[in-house]
Amino acid sequence: MDQIRVTGGKALRGEVKISGSKNATLPIMAAALLAEKPVTLTNTPLLQDVRTMAAVLQILGVKVTLKDRSVLIDAKDFSAAEIPYDVVRKMRASVYVLGPMLARLGQARVSLPGGCAIGPRPIDLHIKGLRALGADIQLEHGYIEASARKGLRGAEMWLEGPNGSSVGATCNVMMAAVMAKGTTVIHAAAREPEVCDTAEFLKSLGARIEGAGSSTITIEGVDRLDGGKYRVVADRIEAGTYLVAGAMTGGDVKVSDCRPDHLETVIEKLAEVGADLSVDGTTIRVRGGNLSHPIAIRTLPYPGFPTDMQAQFTSMLAVVPGTSTVTDTIYPDRFIHVAELNRMGADIHAHAGVATIKGVKLLSAAPVMASDLRASAALVLAGLIAKGTTTVLRVYHIDRGYESIEKKLSALGAQIERISKGQ
Ligand code: UD1
Repeated sequence: MDQIRVTGGKALRGEVKISGSKNATLPIMAAALLAEKPVTLTNTPLLQDVRTMAAVLQILGVKVTLKDRSVLIDAKDFSAAEIPYDVVRKMRASVYVLGPMLARLGQARVSLPGGCAIGPRPIDLHIKGLRALGADIQLEHGYIEASARKGLRGAEMWLEGPNGSSVGATCNVMMAAVMAKGTTVIHAAAREPEVCDTAEFLKSLGARIEGAGSSTITIEGVDRLDGGKYRVVADRIEAGTYLVAGAMTGGDVKVSDCRPDHLETVIEKLAEVGADLSVDGTTIRVRGGNLSHPIAIRTLPYPGFPTDMQAQFTSMLAVVPGTSTVTDTIYPDRFIHVAELNRMGADIHAHAGVATIKGVKLLSAAPVMASDLRASAALVLAGLIAKGTTTVLRVYHIDRGYESIEKKLSALGAQIERISKGQ
């Protein structure tokens, strides 16, 4: 298994280009199942999760061609097949095929996703929404067995869970509703940019969707969707991660090809800590050097502070003087990185969804274990400022969501390398 070795102490300088959004590409690839003609997606990131979603579509008889930063999907021969546990356990977003399968084939058998390193992640809202559209859904032997022999019908529904809206449920139900008979209204819909991008993609194929980006989405069913070409939106979490990297190393970094309007809370919190930020079109410049104010962060559904940036901020706050707090209201158990950061000399106490971070002067390098995608990125960030050489193990977690992180960081001047298996 690959490792990443990073030697701390270099202030990052230069420009980093942001890739297309992983969390938009995955539902959009699933949504392409609804099109009877070929679809070309551009600006797709070169990531393991994209390859996994391609494999899921191929199980369903769909032709998928991955070529550099584009994905060609031809769902002409889309046919029912089981999506097994072995695939879904690798990537929970595999359940995105449920809605399109019901819409076009009237049946689906998809493994239930299990637990996950960041805590319990139920899919009850996906099921609630699809049932509201008339699907018959049974959960048996670890599988979701769904059918809608007479077709789906538009309905009004509230998709609110105990922690607010759900990105996955909103996208899944929206995809199913696009070809349902009549009107669907989703209340308490997730407002994340990835939901909007999925809606924009579907609209480009002829779907009739209004209100994506607000908490009420209205969908008028259509009989069929066309093919077409669509450019995936920039990855706001990758952009946010490089902004934190620039700030915490006391560097001067231009994060380009991104959507600053999707990063407002992240920019605001970095400024509150003391970073200097400026926005010019699709570029955000960050300068660190004076991170001296402890802050309180609370993760919330968009447009609130993203849970997917929580771990990276925790790494940064580990060396900001004073006491900061990070509360994750979306995934209260998402603090596995804390134990590893403490092994690097941080002073963080996580309890009941709140991390209390007492800033220390310096982190010291250590071998650390990546546990999930964003936590792994947080450990690489910690390595950038730690004294000595940090080895991050289980790098495959990072490869799921960050395109060539070691190349992008090293182009900014970081001392970082990937040690591949066998070296
Ligand atoms: C997506 C992102 C993930 C991000 C998360 C929250 C992808 C592939 N992943 O995950 O990176 O951390 O949004 O921004 O896009 N919930 C329920 N019942 C459900 C579904 C969700 O209670 O049926 C809860 C979850 O446990 C969580 C909250 O709702 O507390 C939000 O989850 P959700 O938005 O669905 O996350 P994902 O779509 O799985």
